[in-house]
Amino acid sequence: MFELHQISKAYPLGGDLIEVLHGVSMEIKPGKLVAIVGPSGSGKSTLLNLIGTLDTPDDGRLLFDGRDIGKLSPSARASFRADNLGFIFQFFNLLPGLTARQNVELAAAIGHRDRHYSRQRAGELLELVGLGDKVDAPARNLSGGQMQRVAIARALVNEPRLILADEPTGNLDQRNAAGVLQLLREQASGDRAVAMVTHDRELAERFADEIVTLVDGRIEEMAAGGQNGKRGFRLVSNLASLIGR
Ligand SMILES: Nc1ncnc2c1ncn2[C@@H]1O[C@H](COP(=O)(O)OP(=O)(O)O)[C@@H](O)[C@H]1O
Ligand SMILES: [Mg+2]
Repeated sequence: MFELHQISKAYPLGGDLIEVLHGVSMEIKPGKLVAIVGPSGSGKSTLLNLIGTLDTPDDGRLLFDGRDIGKLSPSARASFRADNLGFIFQFFNLLPGLTARQNVELAAAIGHRDRHYSRQRAGELLELVGLGDKVDAPARNLSGGQMQRVAIARALVNEPRLILADEPTGNLDQRNAAGVLQLLREQASGDRAVAMVTHDRELAERFADEIVTLVDGRIEEMAAGGQNGKRGFRLVSNLASLIGR
């Protein structure tokens, strides 16, 4: 689905160019949850922003279903994102005065979805993430864990192929963090994948299929996560979300 070939990126710093990523190559396969881990400043967010076409590589190729998306115009990138990607951020980025449902509906409107469909789908997704009773609550009244669940519903409303999450549990306690990761885990199935940046290696090992370790802008290690023994559980929980939650 997603292939990075020898991606490099530098930023100007006081007259110099600081190379943040040095020839990174990796792949994101359908149905997989890929965790990108590594120390602060190792280039994780830079890498995720390149995958999300929020920024462009200086060198290397970025292929989505075989199509080179690294050099698209800004407007072509914007429509690529709207059609294929869903974003989840550390600070949730909800509109605090809108209800949970309105936050999700707004994303659907931006994705040009039919209004009636959007309203219904927003309700279904909020139920899926365990917020059936908070649909009409203003986002500002929700807890951090609840806000991130709204953000997950919002990321899903336009049926993205790839969900990108940068430190989605960075502001959550352990219990809420595990709940959010379990939800992300369940979204990585069929032809949908999830790529997540985290500094929490323990969570990555529990929930990810693959762990990419970045150090100083280079991939130091690619390893299988702890999901291999959990297929049975995962199947059951996917099934549960298909048949009326
Ligand atoms: N827009 C930018 N302009 C200049 N430097 C940047 C920019 N974004 C990131 N950097 C630098 O790139 C390095 C990697 O940053 P980042 O990708 O945010 O790391 P991480 O997410 O792993 O903490 C850091 O040294 C940071 O200061
Ligand atoms: Mg970061």
